[in-house]
Amino acid sequence: MIDILADSRFAGIKPFNSKVWLSSPTMHGEEQRWVDEAIQTNWVSTVGANIDAVEKQMAEYVGVKYAVGLSCGTAALHLATKLAGERLYGQAKPNAGTLAGHKVFCSDMTFDATINPVAYEDGEAVFIDTERDTWNMDPVALEKAFGLYPDVRLVVIAHLYGTPSKMDQIKEICVKHGALIVEDAAESLGAKYKHNGQWLETGSLGDFNAISYNGNKIITGSAGGLFLTNSKEDADKVRKWSTQSREAAPWYQHEEIGYNYRMSNIIAGVVRGQIPYLNEHIAQKREIYKRYKEGLKDLPVKLNPWDEEKSNPNFWLSCLLIDEEAMAPMVRGERDYLYKSESGKSSPQEILEAIAAFNAEGRPIWKPMHMQPIYRTNPFVTVEGNGRGRTNAYIKGSGIDVGADIFRRGLCLPSDNKMTEEQQDRIIEIIHRFFL
Ligand SMILES: Cc1ncc(COP(=O)(O)O)c(C=O)c1O
Repeated sequence: MIDILADSRFAGIKPFNSKVWLSSPTMHGEEQRWVDEAIQTNWVSTVGANIDAVEKQMAEYVGVKYAVGLSCGTAALHLATKLAGERLYGQAKPNAGTLAGHKVFCSDMTFDATINPVAYEDGEAVFIDTERDTWNMDPVALEKAFGLYPDVRLVVIAHLYGTPSKMDQIKEICVKHGALIVEDAAESLGAKYKHNGQWLETGSLGDFNAISYNGNKIITGSAGGLFLTNSKEDADKVRKWSTQSREAAPWYQHEEIGYNYRMSNIIAGVVRGQIPYLNEHIAQKREIYKRYKEGLKDLPVKLNPWDEEKSNPNFWLSCLLIDEEAMAPMVRGERDYLYKSESGKSSPQEILEAIAAFNAEGRPIWKPMHMQPIYRTNPFVTVEGNGRGRTNAYIKGSGIDVGADIFRRGLCLPSDNKMTEEQQDRIIEIIHRFFL
């Protein structure tokens, strides 16, 4: 580790007085009104007008018939995945998951909340490698996976950092193989995808869809999430499961396992106050992305890519990928790292350390799930087929692993929508100093 502030490469650059965040909540005042109203009217529970309003407004925004307010995106993903499992394999016993004995194809480079519900439901995640055009699930690898595991009937897909996946290709493959899709739109609320000439919202593209109102998301309730669907039956089932699965009886009667996953009317008040600002936040994030792109265009780096014809991201996080030739040495262990400074080059950990030293927050790219200790023995499929055990001590092989490569060379830049132009210019300048 080097003393960045004393390093002559950064001469003349001052640390930020107040921290520049990766992506922090942006309150507008209306949130207070709905929270106060809930308290004044005593609707301080998991029922109330705020929940109803959020469900109605968000279903309209995303273009689905029903939204069910839940405690967080992870809960929405859990119930989406459970519903998919039950649809495919039937109701499970109370002490078993609906996916027991079954494999599920999953996005590999994502937050673990996307795919943990597969394990909650006793399924086995098979991780599908990432493509370079959008940093999402690679349709070519997905097709390969169906070749290796033809019995699989469920695919869990995330839209990373607010950039829509190649959904047309993914859906075509899923339809061909009779597979259902759980769509994790936690990071991509407001991002659009063009299908047959029509713009559709992420969160409406799968068979079972989820979004998140986590504190760092494009709009927030401090917590909260939604299950989104066009099926009344599915919406009713998720609402029932989320409120402890009560049957129609005068007492607490249960025929299936339940959860306490319902959204609170207080949280919903915060979300309700944020909804009018969703498009404004997206516009701010888009500007941040554009400024980084312009400000860094002379350096050996790229920003996270997206399909300009088929998609309109919400630009939740702007990310950087360092060109291979400009990578300085860096190694990562399970919890620690080492890097070496080299003139004209840098590495994600070095840049992240510098950003932190100047009082701004960046973040490594999501470490791919197939590299995580907890999932180290799960199958992993790349464009070449089985991605495990691909190298040979005696024969030179390629061993393509796109996710590992993006994790190694990439990082998330401070992308807070309250960041000023001056602050962003300073971050751009810090990054420049490495590559001079
Ligand atoms: C891709 C992705 N999926 C799921 C989640 C989980 O959402 P929550 O934090 O609301 O449970 C998050 C973020 O937190 C996420 O980034």
